[in-house]
Amino acid sequence: MRLDAGSPRRKIGDLETPVPVVDMDRLASNLDGMASYAALHGFALRPHVKTHKSPRIAAEQLRLGAAGLTCATPRELEVMSDVAEDLLLAYPPIGAAKLGRLMSLPPATVLTVALDSPETVLQVGAAARLANREVGVYVELDLGMHRVGVQALEDAVALAALVRDRPPLRYAGVTFYPGHIRESVTEQGPALARLGADLARVLEGLELAGLHPDVVSGGSTPTAWRMHEVPGVTEVRPGTYVYNDRTTAAIGACSWEDCALTVLATVVSIAVPGQAVIDAGTKALGREPVRGAKGEGFGALLDHPEVAVARMSEEHGILDLGDTDWRPRIGEQVRVVPNHVCIVVHLNDVVYGVRGDMVETSWPVTARGRA
Ligand SMILES: Cc1ncc(COP(=O)(O)O)c(C=O)c1O
Repeated sequence: MRLDAGSPRRKIGDLETPVPVVDMDRLASNLDGMASYAALHGFALRPHVKTHKSPRIAAEQLRLGAAGLTCATPRELEVMSDVAEDLLLAYPPIGAAKLGRLMSLPPATVLTVALDSPETVLQVGAAARLANREVGVYVELDLGMHRVGVQALEDAVALAALVRDRPPLRYAGVTFYPGHIRESVTEQGPALARLGADLARVLEGLELAGLHPDVVSGGSTPTAWRMHEVPGVTEVRPGTYVYNDRTTAAIGACSWEDCALTVLATVVSIAVPGQAVIDAGTKALGREPVRGAKGEGFGALLDHPEVAVARMSEEHGILDLGDTDWRPRIGEQVRVVPNHVCIVVHLNDVVYGVRGDMVETSWPVTARGRA
C-alpha cells in the first residue's frame, strides 16, 4: 500500500490533542534517503520496525528496496509477516512461549534470529527441529554496546560452530549493534575506527576457523551515514530514521527539518508566569532524556526549538518560556519533537499523516504491545 493511500481530509486543528502527527513529505524523504544510502554502498537494508510498528510503512521500505525487516518482539514478527518474507528477530529468543510464536510464523517466512549463548542455540534448535523449520542464526557480537553479545573471538567461533552443526539451524552470519556510538556524526571517527578494528579481528578469526559469515549485520540511526567506513559490514538495520527525533537531530544524524513525527498538543494554561502548559505529559511524550547529546527537557517545539518541555506530569507538559519571545495563547496548537520517537509511537494506537495544515491519512500502530 502506498503511503499516501488516504482517508477523508480534514484540518490538523480539528484533531483532538495530544496526538502524533507525521509530516508525509518528511517521512517520504527520510525513507528515500536511507534507501539511496544503502544502495550507494551496496548494503542490504533491513530496517528495524520498532520505530513505526506499521506494516504500511514497512511495505513502503520494502518497495524502496529493503531486503527484509528487523523486529524485536514476536508481535512485530507476526504483524510484519503479512508484508515481508524475510524477517530478523534481533533479540534473544528465550522461552517456550516466545519460541512457539516464532515457529508458528507462516512457513514461507524466512526467519533469522540473533543470539549469544549456547543455551539459546539449544532452545532454538530444539524448537526448530520440532517444527521442522529452518531458522537462520546470527551470532551476536558485543562491539562496545555492552548489552548483549559474545565477548571473545573464541566464543564467537564456538557459537558459530555449534549453530553450523545443528540443522535445521543455519549459520547465517554475525551481528552487532553500535548503540553506544552517540557522539555527533562528525565526531564518530575514532569510535567507528575502534569498532572496525574489533570487527576485523572477529571476521578474520571466523575465516581462519572456516566459519565465513555470509552476512555482517550492523547499523543504527546515529551511525547510519558512516557505516560504509566500517569494513566488512554487509547489512544495516537503522530504525529511528523513518521519523527521526530530537536526539537524532542533536547528534547531527538528521536536521531539524527531517523530524517527521511530532506530538500535536494544545496550550491549556498560561497562568503561571514564565511558562505555558500543554496537554502532552509523560503519557504522550514518555520521559526519555536526550541521549548522547546536549538538550534539556523532554522534547522541544518544532516551530520554536528554543522552547523545551521542561517538566511533566502525566497529562501536563510545562514549556519553559525563559529563552523565547514567543508568547502562546490559550488554545494554540504546538508540535513537540519528542526526545525518543519510538517510545511515543508505542504509546499510541493511531498515527495521523499530514501535509501542511491538512490531515491526509492515518494508520494504526499495529505491532504495538505484546498481544
Ligand atoms: C538490535 C538493534 N538493531 C537496530 C536498531 C535500530 O537502531 P536505531 O534506533 O538507532 O535506528 C536497534 C535499536 O534499538 C536495535 O536494538
